[in-house]
Amino acid sequence: MSEMNAERPTRLNQMSPWVALGKHREQLGGTHLRDLFAADPERGSAYTLQVGDLYIDYSKHLVTDETLRLLRELADATGVAALRDAMFRGERINTTEDRAVLHTALRAPRDAVVEVDGENVVPGVHAVLDKMAAFSERIRSGTWTGHTGRPIRNIVNIGIGGSDLGPAMAYEVLRTYTRRDLTVRFVSNVDGADLHEAVRDLDPAETLFVIASKTFTTVETITNATSARAWLLDGLGAGPEAVAKHFVALSTNAGKVADFGIDTANMFEFWDWVGGRYSYDSAIGLSLMIAIGPEHFREMLDGFHLVDEHFRTAPPEANAPLLMGLLGIWYGGFHDAQSHAVLPYSHYLSRFTAYLQQLDMESNGKSVDRQGQPVDWQTGPVVWGTPGTNGQHAYYQLIHQGTKLIPADFIGFARPVADLPEALVAQHDLLTANFLAQTQALAFGKTPDEVRAEGVPEDLVPHKTFRGNHPTTTILAADLTPSVLGQLIALYEHKVFVQGAVWNIDSFDQWGVELGKVLAKRIEPVLTEGTGGEALDSSTAALAGRYRTLRGR
Ligand code: F6P
Repeated sequence: MSEMNAERPTRLNQMSPWVALGKHREQLGGTHLRDLFAADPERGSAYTLQVGDLYIDYSKHLVTDETLRLLRELADATGVAALRDAMFRGERINTTEDRAVLHTALRAPRDAVVEVDGENVVPGVHAVLDKMAAFSERIRSGTWTGHTGRPIRNIVNIGIGGSDLGPAMAYEVLRTYTRRDLTVRFVSNVDGADLHEAVRDLDPAETLFVIASKTFTTVETITNATSARAWLLDGLGAGPEAVAKHFVALSTNAGKVADFGIDTANMFEFWDWVGGRYSYDSAIGLSLMIAIGPEHFREMLDGFHLVDEHFRTAPPEANAPLLMGLLGIWYGGFHDAQSHAVLPYSHYLSRFTAYLQQLDMESNGKSVDRQGQPVDWQTGPVVWGTPGTNGQHAYYQLIHQGTKLIPADFIGFARPVADLPEALVAQHDLLTANFLAQTQALAFGKTPDEVRAEGVPEDLVPHKTFRGNHPTTTILAADLTPSVLGQLIALYEHKVFVQGAVWNIDSFDQWGVELGKVLAKRIEPVLTEGTGGEALDSSTAALAGRYRTLRGR
């Protein structure tokens, strides 16, 4: 058993800070945020942190100084800092896959030294970034031409999970930094409709497919890539020699890339110490880099690095990822919160929470600890949310007046993006007023007496009362820049890390996705050939039979 898996002397829920937090929770009882704010007029400025460009207000949380002290003690007792340092040193902290976890090396400066098995990986990281930059410039300048000699105008990224969500999210976030004359699309779903809609109005002679897959064995991606190749060759009326100019690969698996027919000279590599959901700042970001250019990509990496350094060096009281991770543990462990909402007040962050879903839920959706023992504490929450103002007219009702406690992160920006037309700039104050109003309403609510004072008839008072006391974090930055995006993502990456460390789970494997893949392989011939149905359970067999009937088979 590796050192990382060595039995903890005490189970999490028997550790003294955990037990003390339980008692402290009882003592706090129903203490309301109204009371906490009344007791400390400075709370709104004291419970804040500035990390790089991010101003983080955690004053509207159900915590006191004592809560925070006990949570930090818990981090201490569970060895969060030691595991963090082991991660940064390149130790194999992903024990079930026996891998190092070094996404932080992807954004390290050129002169940094990060060793895996005695080898400094930073020169390799920068060699790939340089190769990506040179390729991006050739596409952007039109000097890379397709099979018929025409410049590339359309980029279609084909990948799924970590090979899709990161670049697809970041492309939306940084849209104002993109070359608007390039069309960039992302195909992930094995439903043929995804590829169809992505390419139906494109000219194959001007289209580049970027096939993104760490393993290059993922069935959805290889199926879509195979169909894309057929579409291309058919459209061009060309043979396989056309592939070289229209297909590049982003992968760790050169053998499979070559088997597919992509010249490995057109492959951008990364390494097994980069987890899929931690990979968009690796070669997996190529489509994004083509769209925003290498300099903006570097700015984004520098933003990541800034928060890496903060996480590595800031003292516990001022360490933002540590604090955010511990707050989540407080709600899951001691308030029975089941989910966590992330609510950006920026249209450009429309895919931000979808990205975080994989980051958080694939990392911490585990129910056995590092030693393989079932956990008897809550692990990762359900992460959900969409841009805030739209949510206000949909599901915020439940957050305000429902029966569930839903901690939420609100993310906003002081200035609208630079290229927003002047006529629309004024709307930004209204957006921000909503951003601030919601956390205020969630925290302080509206008492029955306040409702009565408005002359509301007594029978409606309960309906118009807002309990309040709903915890939120507010993250405010001046501008939505590539660096700020990098800072935000690194903040969440390390928050997830902290939680996995305290919960004593392996945040870097994802065995839970395997069973469905195996079963899908078994079921496919039942659907196509009608064979093997007898091995299925009665429900699945009946559904497969009905499917065949409906398909006229
Ligand atoms: O869904 C499981 C998963 O392995 C993710 O962790 C990963 O990001 C995704 O599939 C795609 O994998 P690949 O990049 O190897 O195609």
